Amino acid sequence: MRYFIPVFIIIAASIVSIMGFRGDLTENTPIEVFPDMDRQAKYKSQTKNPFFGDNRADRLPVIGTAIRGNLITQNNVFSATPKFLSDSIKTGKDSNGKWLSKIPNELGINIDLMRLGREKYDIHCSVCHGDYGDGKGVTSYFGLAPRNLSDSSQSGSYLESAAPWSDGQIYNAIAMGSASGIMLGLKDKLTPRERWAIVLYLRALQSYVSDATNGIDKKS
Ligand code: HEC
Repeated sequence: MRYFIPVFIIIAASIVSIMGFRGDLTENTPIEVFPDMDRQAKYKSQTKNPFFGDNRADRLPVIGTAIRGNLITQNNVFSATPKFLSDSIKTGKDSNGKWLSKIPNELGINIDLMRLGREKYDIHCSVCHGDYGDGKGVTSYFGLAPRNLSDSSQSGSYLESAAPWSDGQIYNAIAMGSASGIMLGLKDKLTPRERWAIVLYLRALQSYVSDATNGIDKKS
């Protein structure tokens, strides 16, 4: 005990003189027990790199690199005369800014589009809106209130109002989500063609449901 206090003071003084007070700033390299690649030889972007003739660290893609990860189909990428979707297909509006009342014909409306719509609806919409668009998907049992999309005789569908929705509006809701933002837009997951295909399938569900509610048997 006789030596403890002087030894303690000497140790404390030497630690403070080497490490400094708590909160002090230093420009010295910190003590790194495991450096974890904090320091490494590399070129940062937009800096000089004398290895290349133009002295730039950033390199351009190799000539002939094909673009990928956007909505242009592969055939278009390699075509001399690529075809792009018209603005109204992409936005759901005509050239005057009005919602398209019908699915654009240029999409080629046929059974393939209908099948695509059914497939994509089952993947992306039915969890909330239900397999038949009745708004009773699995999430509706957990506090979400998805709209009834197929039965105009029920309240809470967008069909019942005096001005039922046009195809363009449904297309827009799929891409951008509902007006209140409760349903998020799916434009990052569905191409414009797939969104229109879902509109087509929804219309088929609607006529199926309205015929069924009005007692019309399609088979007879
Ligand atoms: C996460 C659940 C969920 C998914 C997935 C979902 N919806 Fe919705 N949808 C909702 C809810 C909830 C509402 C009601 C939103 C509100 O009241 O603002 C809604 C509203 C709508 C509306 C009316 C929009 C409006 O502004 O009122 C349409 C049309 C619609 N959905 C179609 C679809 C289609 C088609 C799909 C598939 C591509 C889909 N929804 C996927 C939950 C979902």
